Amino acid sequence: MENRVFQMAIPLFFAALMATLLSSSSAVSLTKGSFDDNFDIMFSESNFKTSEDGQIWYLSLDKTSGCGFQTKQKYRFGWFSMKLKLVGGDSAGVVTAYYMCTDVDASPTRDELDFEFLGNRTGEPYIIQTNVYKNGTGGREMRHVLWFDPTEDYHTYSVLWNSHQIVFFVDRVPIRVYKNNGKPNNFFPDEKPMYLFSSIWNADDWATRGGLEKTDWKKAPFVSAYKDFSVDGCRWEDPYPACVSTTTKHWWDQAPSWELSDSQKEDYAWVKRNLVTYDYCEDTERYTTPMEECSLNPWK
Ligand SMILES: *[C@@H]1O[C@H](CO)[C@@H](O)[C@H](O)[C@H]1NC(C)=O
Ligand SMILES: *[C@@H]1O[C@H](CO)[C@@H](O)[C@H](O)[C@H]1NC(C)=O
Repeated sequence: MENRVFQMAIPLFFAALMATLLSSSSAVSLTKGSFDDNFDIMFSESNFKTSEDGQIWYLSLDKTSGCGFQTKQKYRFGWFSMKLKLVGGDSAGVVTAYYMCTDVDASPTRDELDFEFLGNRTGEPYIIQTNVYKNGTGGREMRHVLWFDPTEDYHTYSVLWNSHQIVFFVDRVPIRVYKNNGKPNNFFPDEKPMYLFSSIWNADDWATRGGLEKTDWKKAPFVSAYKDFSVDGCRWEDPYPACVSTTTKHWWDQAPSWELSDSQKEDYAWVKRNLVTYDYCEDTERYTTPMEECSLNPWK
């Protein structure tokens, strides 16, 4: 796998360069910057800290509370990215989430795109779980192991969202491709704008080995760190989203972003061969008939 990562480094560098060049011509919403410019704390102000220069944000979980933050803005389509360093050591039972959602609460009609990082006992691998919700219904879980230890350093987790596909990326490697077949009433969340959230909480009733491993509170507080938030997307402005009504072109909703590039396809094939540990589309015990979107071709 190390060899593989090395091979990816050069194409990824050019992909990053292209994205930077392309995004600088898009005026819609290129957000970087301080915590207060972009976010509000959702709960437990006291479990939130920043580094002295304000560039790194720490969320902690202790026996009384977790912590979470959300963007002030809602977005519909774009490229959403953040660097995370997850709770190290014994983190069984602890879940760090990084997700997009239409609502601030668990609304029964929410759309949602999730990255969830499921902690583990010391030395056992973290699992990254992704999910897609539409109108309050989810059940589209996929799980992957990573090709690095996500507690050792910061890694970039990103979502590309347009009307053709939703792609989950880890360090610019596409780990999951979720396509739109364009049919009415299909299971593709594309109508409602979403906030971006992050939070840490205790989920030892299900997260680690299906709830068998419990959170060891002697190890608390559990801390996840965040930095380099960036959005290049359509900021929603009620009553009508500005960027849908203009003719401005954005790299994230143009044809090249409707499917993976050739080098992304190679990376994605490698991920599929090596890192997938669960795919709801293959879980025939749970879904005797696979969901409609499972038959869509991720390669085009
Ligand atoms: C969305 O969910 C709500 C509540 O479950 C339901 O009443 C409504 O019909 C659903 N809407 C669509 C478009 O499916
Ligand atoms: C934790 O480690 C165990 C043992 O290696 C593994 O089976 C499991 O998938 C890991 N992750 C979670 C979230 O349980």
